[in-house]
Amino acid sequence: MTISTTREIAGQSTDVIGAPIDRVDGPAKVTGKARYAADFPAANLLYAVAFQSRISKGRVKSIDSAQAAGQGGVVAIITHENAPRLYRVSMDHQTGLPGQTYLPLQDDQIHYSGQYLGMVIARTFTQARDAAMLVKIDYDEQAPVLSMEDAQDQAFEPEKMGRGDKPKYQRGEPDQAFSAAAVKIDQTYTTPQENHNPMELSATIARWDGDMLTLYNATQFVYGSRSIVATWLGIADDHVRVIDPFVGGGFGCKGSTWPHSVMAAIAARIVQRPVKFVLSRQQMFTCVGYRPRTIQRVALGADRDGNLKSIVHECTSQTSSWKDEWVETATMQTRMLYACPNVRTAQKLVPLNANTPTQMRAPGHATGTFALEVAMDELAVAAGVDPVQLRLRNYAEYDHEKTLPFSSKALRQCYQQAADRFGWNQRTAQVGSMRDGDALVGYGMATAIYPTNQQEATAKIEIKANGSATVSIAAHDLGTGAYTILTQIASQTLGIPIEQVQVKIGDSDLPAAPVAGGSQTTASAGCAVLAAAKKAVAALKERAVADEQSPLFAKKTKELAVQGGRILVSDTPSIGETISQLISRNGGRPIAATATTQPPSKPGDTGDSSANPQNLERYSKYAWGAQFAEVRVDPILRRVRISRMVAAFAAGKILNPKTAHSQIMGAIVMGVGMALLEQTVHDPQRGQVVTDNLADYLVPVNPDIASIDCFFVDEPDKFVNPLGVKGVGEIGITGVAAAISNAVYHATGIRVRDLPITIDKLLG
Ligand code: MOS
Repeated sequence: MTISTTREIAGQSTDVIGAPIDRVDGPAKVTGKARYAADFPAANLLYAVAFQSRISKGRVKSIDSAQAAGQGGVVAIITHENAPRLYRVSMDHQTGLPGQTYLPLQDDQIHYSGQYLGMVIARTFTQARDAAMLVKIDYDEQAPVLSMEDAQDQAFEPEKMGRGDKPKYQRGEPDQAFSAAAVKIDQTYTTPQENHNPMELSATIARWDGDMLTLYNATQFVYGSRSIVATWLGIADDHVRVIDPFVGGGFGCKGSTWPHSVMAAIAARIVQRPVKFVLSRQQMFTCVGYRPRTIQRVALGADRDGNLKSIVHECTSQTSSWKDEWVETATMQTRMLYACPNVRTAQKLVPLNANTPTQMRAPGHATGTFALEVAMDELAVAAGVDPVQLRLRNYAEYDHEKTLPFSSKALRQCYQQAADRFGWNQRTAQVGSMRDGDALVGYGMATAIYPTNQQEATAKIEIKANGSATVSIAAHDLGTGAYTILTQIASQTLGIPIEQVQVKIGDSDLPAAPVAGGSQTTASAGCAVLAAAKKAVAALKERAVADEQSPLFAKKTKELAVQGGRILVSDTPSIGETISQLISRNGGRPIAATATTQPPSKPGDTGDSSANPQNLERYSKYAWGAQFAEVRVDPILRRVRISRMVAAFAAGKILNPKTAHSQIMGAIVMGVGMALLEQTVHDPQRGQVVTDNLADYLVPVNPDIASIDCFFVDEPDKFVNPLGVKGVGEIGITGVAAAISNAVYHATGIRVRDLPITIDKLLG
């Protein structure tokens, strides 16, 4: 499938889009030229290290910082007793998301273990860190509420959820239909707290120039963190600039803005020098959010053939004691993934003495597909239907929640192609019936799904007299390939070789783009770059046909094309000139074009915001996938090994198979972590995180991963957006934990409904 973005040039392939080209930022990364937030130099730089609460609830009785203040190199110690006042930001702030609404260093209250109580500013990092350890805090300690089970009576329904969705949903009469169903499953599934562990620690360098603040801030959203920090400080957005050209992974923890960013700013103001604040790995477990624990009930009712008659999915997740409404939207896919006339979903929150949770790769869908897709496997067993057949039998041909057609849905092809490659037909249904030597072998599968998001974005393109082009947009590259695919889109559309296209991102002085979250960068920033490039090409053509000295003078613009740095007649490519010649002749005045795009609403819509004022939804937009897992379980030790995974995805047009494949591969590895290893453990008395390091918080390493065969199926989509793209950042993790749990059941007959699947759950 090809969605051509340029006019075909006679006899020549011009596709840069869709080619597996290497990362354009690769050389900068391997040579160390790529600057991450904490790498930026600043004259007279000082270092901030925060000290934190050791208790989960109570108040600070006193802070004795005399000894710390006397240490060499210490310049200032900032606590709630001397910090400036900050202004509240609500969870539904217009631009950007605060990680937490509770403001740092404003009072003596303690709500969670790890809460910042102050910071030491010193000449070196080690001086600041050593002094911070000498600060003595006297607490007034109260009994914290630490477990969701203990707080059930505090459960409440949030007003709304992440994307404005209502927490409750119903169609038909699910309870009656469940009562009447021939086959029933009604179980509870739980997922633990997990923490993001990007290689790059969260970090901020703050520098004031008069009343202008510059932040080098590790973030997935430069405009968002600019607005949040400005609001916290009580200054105008345009007095803050946020710069972050390279991000070393985020997975969601850098999508919202956390207190350290404003603490660096207030420290820099107090000491009148630039201040660098880099979190420790330990602080990454308490100060930048986490995937909350969930307790989910899924009830499925079906007829004897497994046709769904009723689905109920209720999810309770944890939030902070001050009740920030951050919801792990685990029930969303359950509303629309399968054809079913009677569906109810509901979400609740329980407040705990913990910080506010946040989005972590495929928030809601990673946890929700675990519960739903294990329940579907249980239904397959109960109804005696093959798990793939059960999904096909309940295949939704349209979105039953929104009553809209899907813009495209190649999920059937995903099931079929992945099942074929996996060899699903070799599976014998009987539990424990497959062996390899002593090892119990299990085959399991699950559906993967993630919504296709797109938000308004603006891109600017400038073509200079030397024939090179600059693309400017405040997008972000988390290590995912955004630089590369934006370069590809601009290169192909402008007909300028990729080596002569420079992409500038990660700076709030550039035209606005949304958060690099929700798998939406390619759709949002990509479509804006496409639209701006098309405008620039139109301007080039206008200039050529109006230029008496151009070989293209007086031609019709629609007969022209751009390719290989030239502007030419499509049917007769020998007639033309270089873009550089055309621009140089006109006094070297660059061609500049800016475009703002929105998600399109109807066929043929260009996504140009002026053409789509109402932005009406005409299509339901999702990416799809099928995950297949083979596990080997030691019959005595009960150790689970993933021997192979096969996964197929339908995500519209794939702009770069190499970077897209890496995205999916990484997400599946993260899904293996979710299935078998990851869990943040708290001390049950005091609430301290006891797994706050990469020795105790386990993530998969190479020996944990055998073979992952993941691939894309063709999925032409002319409705989703002009590029036909859906985004691939998150879908790869969805369904993985369910496929593995289902495989473990098939091998052992033990149904693990509580993640991670550790050995203790497979004994007995
Ligand atoms: Mo993603 S968890 O929306 O950064």
